[in-house]
Amino acid sequence: MALLKDKTIVVGVSGGIAAYKAAELIRLLTGRGAQVRVMMTRNAAEFITPLTLQTLSAHPVATNTFDLTQESEIGHIRLADRADAIVIAPATADIIARAAVGIADDIVTTVLLAARCPIAFAPAMNVHMYAHPTVAENLARLRSRNVVVIEPDEGELACGYEGKGRLPDPVAIVEELERMLSLRDLADERILVTAGPTREAIDPVRYISNHSSGKMGYAIARAAWRRGAAIRLVSGPSVLKAPRGVERIETVSAAEMLAATAENFPWCSTLVMAAAVADFRPARPADQKIKKNARAMTLELQPIADELPRLSAKKGARLIIGFAAETGNLEAHAAEKLRRKKLDLIVANDVTLEGAGFGSDTNIVTLISADGNRESHPKLTKDEVADLILDRLLAIRSGSMPRKSSRSA
Ligand code: PMT
Repeated sequence: MALLKDKTIVVGVSGGIAAYKAAELIRLLTGRGAQVRVMMTRNAAEFITPLTLQTLSAHPVATNTFDLTQESEIGHIRLADRADAIVIAPATADIIARAAVGIADDIVTTVLLAARCPIAFAPAMNVHMYAHPTVAENLARLRSRNVVVIEPDEGELACGYEGKGRLPDPVAIVEELERMLSLRDLADERILVTAGPTREAIDPVRYISNHSSGKMGYAIARAAWRRGAAIRLVSGPSVLKAPRGVERIETVSAAEMLAATAENFPWCSTLVMAAAVADFRPARPADQKIKKNARAMTLELQPIADELPRLSAKKGARLIIGFAAETGNLEAHAAEKLRRKKLDLIVANDVTLEGAGFGSDTNIVTLISADGNRESHPKLTKDEVADLILDRLLAIRSGSMPRKSSRSA
């Protein structure tokens, strides 16, 4: 996934205190291979210098439509024509108002009027200004013209107030831009993803769990949202932030996770079970903390019923994708799980390999589908694995899975 590579992203900076965060946004965009062109309002230049943004973007910064040198070097129409996407970050109440009514009295508003590419606004302002009906009306007007409004975050504001008005995290702005430029090939899908570990109580302070961080499942949720799907994410305990645009259902034990999965199953068109769900739980968790003593103790475990075969039995037109975490005999064990759990696709990972399985940002996977197709992949980032799985989901839907076994170098 290199959606922003070689794309021209025009960043419009308007005059609010969050203008300094445009520097981080530009750094993230160039880091993803985008060509970043910056335009600033006169007020923005009071908060951050054009020189800073010019240095970070490695291109001259447009600040004035009427400056002859700038116009010949940059050209506002050329800027609008070249842009694959435009993002106004931060967007003040003033620029939102001017853009909403079509005023073109500076470089930023002029480029906005001349542009034909996707446009996003990332508002940042005082909480009461953001709540003002005029701002809401102006944003509604922009939305009605397919402008994407990236909602501000809530929290402490530079003006001293608490509330909604903080510029969204630059990472979130980049994710929105990636979504805007993606094909949206999953727009017809409602995907239920499970992620993370489960915890089985021994007593009120101790539990049995596993090493899952949630990274694999969260990567799938993120990628599917970017590709246009509606997502529900059933997550075990994880330190990861809920991905943008994703409805997260938080669970702790296997029973809770499997119940939440079963409850949301009728909603989905595809289920992807990337969570590491416990297979056993303590038979009789203690009500009170078990006191230490010198004797050895035995913990009786009882099996947890596997949910997948039960869901498979009532799947209808849904697709079900499972994972197999193995420590040996990868393909044989995974193929057996695929059959027994009646899955459409299983993603097998040998969790003993360096850079595969639990906790890492990468994974090494073999995909086995119900029609017998097998493909082994080298080490990929979990984001890349996520896109691969989603590509196969689409291929299964359209009946165009690659036929032969394959091993990518
Ligand atoms: O979260 P990360 O740190 O990124 O790590 C990723 C991962 C290693 C957890 C992930 O890649 C992975 O392999 N997930 C599945 C782990 C697992 O539980 O595998 P399994 O072979 O035990 O289970 C097979 C399938 O049955 C899984 O889809 C599982 O969700 C499902 N299952 C398991 C037990 C159970 N009681 N009910 C189930 O439905």
